[in-house]
Amino acid sequence: MSGPPRVNVSVYDRCAPGYDPHVAYFRTFGRRLVDLAAPAPGERVLDVAAGRGACLFPAAERVGPGGRVDGVDLSPAMVAHLAADIEAGGTANAWAARMDAQALTVPESSYDVVLCAFALFVMPDPGAAVDGFRRALRPGGRCAVSVPSMTLVPGDVEEVREVFRSYAERSGSPVFRRRIYGVDPGALLEAAGFTDVRAREETARFVFRDTAAWWEWTWSTGIRSFYEHLPADLLEELRRELFALLAPLETPDGLPPGTERPRFATARRPEADG
Ligand SMILES: C[S@@+](CC[C@H](N)C(=O)[O-])C[C@H]1O[C@@H](n2cnc3c(N)ncnc32)[C@H](O)[C@@H]1O
Repeated sequence: MSGPPRVNVSVYDRCAPGYDPHVAYFRTFGRRLVDLAAPAPGERVLDVAAGRGACLFPAAERVGPGGRVDGVDLSPAMVAHLAADIEAGGTANAWAARMDAQALTVPESSYDVVLCAFALFVMPDPGAAVDGFRRALRPGGRCAVSVPSMTLVPGDVEEVREVFRSYAERSGSPVFRRRIYGVDPGALLEAAGFTDVRAREETARFVFRDTAAWWEWTWSTGIRSFYEHLPADLLEELRRELFALLAPLETPDGLPPGTERPRFATARRPEADG
């Protein structure tokens, strides 16, 4: 099932330099996905849509010097930053390359583990991507994927989400009108012929120092494509409305926590494909 891109991938080129500031949101869930997949020393791991390495670095720690982690991403800037981070950190068992998750060109049956964190929901054809994950795995290999559930908002203030929706309607932006978070990772893995599929939802809370920190964080996510779609005057009006809702909630300890409930799914490639 394919369709128009949910988020234009070029937006991630502009997200890449200041990715994941203030609350380590992606790194928290990337590490969790790696924990669920549990790569063992010596294993070969493919991190699809690797971004700045939220999964890649914890996976590289786990597989150790005898293993390897290949991170692929469609955004050239993400790949360039990831390669620089790998080099700067002296991570000798990880590599970064540009590749479309929906048309993987890695050798078949060559990985023990395939990871894909918080990316299937932005792809026009997540089913094609997951088919490729299965082919990249050796028989019996493990796959672990995750998707976010909603926009992270301090204090879970519903009016903030309503403001986003109303500006999306006014501007004709597809980002908040479509259910972009409507991807079911367990169903995707089942449809692609995986076995032993286990899906789970988890809850995590994040505290932003202040509204400016949250606003900056949103620019490092797919929401940026919505902001970039807005004419400058409308964007400024939106910013003012959001600050008016959140700034009064600020305390010396920060804003009230915002909740994210990502969905995770793990599965295995069958020993023999049916
Ligand atoms: C929200 S970020 C998540 C990145 C990383 N997995 C993490 O958890 O921090 C989504 C990533 O998916 C990448 N991406 C989007 N569409 C892609 C595609 N078709 N193939 C490969 N990467 C893609 C983007 O460039 C971006 O790095």
